[in-house]
Parts: sequence; C-alpha cells; structure tokens
Amino acid sequence: MKLTATKALTVCMAFLFLGTIKTPSSQAQNYVPTYYTDVQSILEKHCTACHVVGGIAPFTLTSGQDAVTNASEIARVVTQGNMPPWMPGEDSPPYLNDTRLGATSKQMLFDWVKAGAPLGKPLPGQKP
Ligand code: HEC
Repeated sequence: MKLTATKALTVCMAFLFLGTIKTPSSQAQNYVPTYYTDVQSILEKHCTACHVVGGIAPFTLTSGQDAVTNASEIARVVTQGNMPPWMPGEDSPPYLNDTRLGATSKQMLFDWVKAGAPLGKPLPGQKP
C-alpha cells in the first residue's frame, strides 16, 4: 500500500515537473511571425481552396492584404474551430488529407494576429 502511494506521488511530481517545461507558445515568446514567413503557407494549405477568386467562400485569403484585412476574423474562426469547415466533426475517425489546423499552425496564426498582423518581407519568388 505504502509503495503504491509513493509511486502515485512520484507520477504526480513528474507531471508537475513536466508542466513547468516550456510550452510551444512560451518558446516562441520573442519570435514575431509575419505573413510571408509563416502565415501565407498555412492559409494556402488550409484556406485558399475555398477562399479564392471563384471559390465557394465569400472573400479571398490569397494575398497578404487579404490576410491583414481579415486578421481578427481569422483569429476568431480559428478559436471557434469553425474554419476550415470539417464535416466529419470533432470526434471523427482519422482521415487521409485531414484539412484541420494543427495546434502549431493555430498558435502561429494567433501569435501573428496578436503581433498586429505584420506582413514582413516577401522571400525571393514569393507572391505578394
Ligand atoms: C471548404 C471551404 C473552406 C475552407 C477550406 C475555409 N473556408 Fe472560410 N468560409 C467558407 C465559406 C463557404 C464561408 C462563408 C459561409 C460561412 O460563414 O459559413 C467562410 C467564411 C469564413 C469567414 C467569415 C466569418 C464567418 O464566421 O463566417 C472567415 C473569417 C473564414 N472563412 C476564414 C477561414 C480561414 C482562416 C480558413 C483556413 C484556416 C478557412 N476560412 C477555410 C469556406 C471555407
């Protein structure tokens, strides 16, 4: 009995300790994401299939200006989890080509909006 209690305590301590280890957002504390370095690729991967000229979404997210104009809306829909739409629902079985945003991409979008949605500088060959 005593042994089990000690074990349980050890496990608790381990979790407490793990809790103090840096989380991704605190790691990125000094890093300011920009549209060109971080956001464009996320939007291209998760949003512009619909948010494109002629797409089913009511506005485009294909340029830096689009992203900046809609920055707070982007943060809102990402927080609410309703964009990108995922028909199978939250507790769906795993699918190939899951279009949902991962935790890292979400955090990147939040950090970007929080930093005032800076555009940054396009890399060579990157579209505006
Ligand atoms: C499968 C197509 C599709 C994808 C992918 C998609 N959207 Fe949308 N989005 C829509 C449609 C359609 C609407 C308008 C209808 C609606 O509001 O539900 C919309 C509306 C929005 C709105 C307006 C606010 C609102 O709540 O209606 C925002 C902001 C938005 N999308 C952001 C995004 C972002 C950011 C992504 C990528 C992370 C994304 N969308 C991915 C189809 C899409």
